[in-house]
Amino acid sequence: MKVTVVGAGNVGATCADVLAYREVANEVVLVDIKEGLAEGKALDIWEKSPINLYDTRTIGSTNDYSKTAGSDVVVITSGLPRKPGMTRDDLIETNAGIVKIVTENVIKHSPDAIIIIVSNPLDVMTYQAHLISGKSRNKVMGMAGILDTARYRSFLAEALNVSPKDIQAVLMGGHGDTMVPLPRYTTVGGIPVTELIDSETLEAIIQRTKTGGGELVKLMGTSAWYAPGSAAAQMVEAIVKDQRRVFPVCVKLEGEYGIDNCYLGVPVILGKNGIEKVIELDLNEKEKADLEISRGHVAEVMEVLDKMS
Ligand code: LMR
Repeated sequence: MKVTVVGAGNVGATCADVLAYREVANEVVLVDIKEGLAEGKALDIWEKSPINLYDTRTIGSTNDYSKTAGSDVVVITSGLPRKPGMTRDDLIETNAGIVKIVTENVIKHSPDAIIIIVSNPLDVMTYQAHLISGKSRNKVMGMAGILDTARYRSFLAEALNVSPKDIQAVLMGGHGDTMVPLPRYTTVGGIPVTELIDSETLEAIIQRTKTGGGELVKLMGTSAWYAPGSAAAQMVEAIVKDQRRVFPVCVKLEGEYGIDNCYLGVPVILGKNGIEKVIELDLNEKEKADLEISRGHVAEVMEVLDKMS
């Protein structure tokens, strides 16, 4: 199996590192436009293989996509990260152009690859990759739900003083402040979370989750990378190993949840064909209303992209 990660910045390099040390693929190619950056990071990851004991080959390339040829999965992390005071949507103009060029290069050399988008604004960059690649919806998807639920789960684990391993959760909607965490579908070792936590604390955790990316941008002056890179690698692993994992993933909705032609995070089954199935949950009125707000927001930004092209 061969996996390419485009963008050797913090997120891309973290993703490549996780893919290597977890031996998700035989070969991981890291690409960047900055001369030597991808080669250097790929070499650094390879040089730690005798310490961390893995045999995945990591190869770097400065914008030479011929090295990515025949990739099974490609993760696109290229584009600018946001700075304090910016929303993810503020990145659309710059990142739409970058995602376009990268996607064209990717499909030229790996026409059958499954593409995972990490660049922001996430839902709309996934739409952009779909427009450029012309691939069916099961083969172009965005990474956000695993990251957002990971934040939600980690905050819950901290508040409850339990292992994050035992927190299972679903979250839907766009990758922005309108995302919709679903406490009704959140459990702790099989116990509904609402049995274990008071509603005020839960609400505070939900609000923190929605602005979780911004919290890190404020702290570091740039976007997060450990959790986003690891989340993308987890999606690759599910596909490459045909694990049929159930994750929230950004996908084009085609009538599910009463929504058509919009890229939104929903629970799916991820396997060797990419998105094997979109899971339709039974939502209550409040959850439906929250999802509609999120859909409306993403649809507006999708329109901005449509007008740009
Ligand atoms: C995140 O959620 O960490 C990413 O989308 C990056 C960002 O700017 O928030």
